[in-house]
Amino acid sequence: MPILNQDTFEFVSRNADQTRRLGARLGTLLEGGDIIALEGNLGAGKTVLAQGIGRGWGAQDPLISPTFVLMRRHTRPHDQQKLYHIDFYRLQPAEIAHLGLEEILGAPGTIAVVEWADRAPDIISGEGHLRITLHCLDEYRRTLTFHAVGDRHNALLENFRKEIIGR
Ligand SMILES: Nc1ncnc2c1ncn2[C@@H]1O[C@H](COP(=O)(O)OP(=O)(O)O)[C@@H](O)[C@H]1O
Ligand SMILES: [Mg+2]
Repeated sequence: MPILNQDTFEFVSRNADQTRRLGARLGTLLEGGDIIALEGNLGAGKTVLAQGIGRGWGAQDPLISPTFVLMRRHTRPHDQQKLYHIDFYRLQPAEIAHLGLEEILGAPGTIAVVEWADRAPDIISGEGHLRITLHCLDEYRRTLTFHAVGDRHNALLENFRKEIIGR
């Protein structure tokens, strides 16, 4: 499992459950203001990973694909923290720019998990984020490449990497 750089980490998942568990471990580490940008083709596993993130974070209801509703908001009961699960799949960059997402992305007490984040790079890149790019190697194997931008998300990635590979 190569560490490409200090701010990049690569992992090969062997099945959907492993991707979900990986997401759950990341979900436990999230703090308000964190932005997780998911990239990769249809069927790469963005929603599966997001489901794990939601479970680890503590969503009461399972995260389902937000493709048809654009975004779903989850509230964690014990501290009222919010997690927005957003999907840009059906949108053009110009439409995305008019959604008012600047009120959500990076807001205190608010986490954003965005599928197809690469459709609106200007909106996501801002202050910082953790980008996760998924690639299909075959029917079940996926490469997940984690890349952190900004101090907070670099710290998040470092904690995550320590959890996963112990260093
Ligand atoms: N290692 C893996 N990680 C994630 N999904 C996998 C994996 N192997 C097979 N799959 C399957 O690939 C599909 C991924 O779907 P989904 O998460 O909805 O993709 P996306 O949201 O990227 O379009 C699911 O049917 C899942 O069961
Ligand atoms: Mg999806």
